Amino acid sequence: MGMTVKDLSTDKLLVSPSILAADFARLGAEIERVCEAGCDLIHVDVMDGHFVPNISIGPPVVKSIRKSTDLVFDVHLMISDPMTYAEPFVKAGADHITFHLECTDTPEAVIAHIRTLGASVGICLKPGTPAETAFLYLDKVDLILVMTVEPGFGGQSFMADMMPKVRALKDEIKRRKLNVHLEVDGGLDASTVGAAARAGANMIVAGTSVFCNPEGAVRAVAVLHEAEKELY
Ligand code: DX5
Ligand code: ZN
Repeated sequence: MGMTVKDLSTDKLLVSPSILAADFARLGAEIERVCEAGCDLIHVDVMDGHFVPNISIGPPVVKSIRKSTDLVFDVHLMISDPMTYAEPFVKAGADHITFHLECTDTPEAVIAHIRTLGASVGICLKPGTPAETAFLYLDKVDLILVMTVEPGFGGQSFMADMMPKVRALKDEIKRRKLNVHLEVDGGLDASTVGAAARAGANMIVAGTSVFCNPEGAVRAVAVLHEAEKELY
């Protein structure tokens, strides 16, 4: 196990490019391109065609790209059975695993299992899942991920109406003085990152706006980092 999100400051605005928007034919070079651009983690979107209506990548791909960087692999499992599949992803090189609260009745067991694998742990909320659903687990995880689109596809529009949920989670994290990252995922770009930072998100997932930016990845990552001054 390399670094996990526990080694990264929750007071810094961190950029996690989603490789879903990369050119998969040149994945290693694409990851090196965003690492050289100054990103802080690499976001890996895993879809099973069951929890979400799309299929992306599995452990063999994670193992192959592990050679491209030492940055934390921030693995987002959009799958129905994280209990079974967390381990192969960690063995392939995942440093951090986020799973969806909607896919299990026993989140505590999944959290405990991922901890035994040595990875840091995150829980994710789809747009329809209220902030309070995560309150019970705040002191047991390293990261909360608030979806700002319906999971399944890149390139969708940012849901600004998720910002009160981000703020409610940040207020609760602050009230309890917890060291938990608050991540947002979906439609993040130069025009939406400010709202996310002001609501309290310190970890910004961005696929399209980083990998497909006509101004290049260096500029794209720098613009996202600039929102740190707005962090709540
Ligand atoms: C959505 C994924 C996101 C998505 C982000 O299901 O979890 O990580 O790929 O892509 P953009 O930034 O293009 O919305
Ligand atoms: Zn994601």
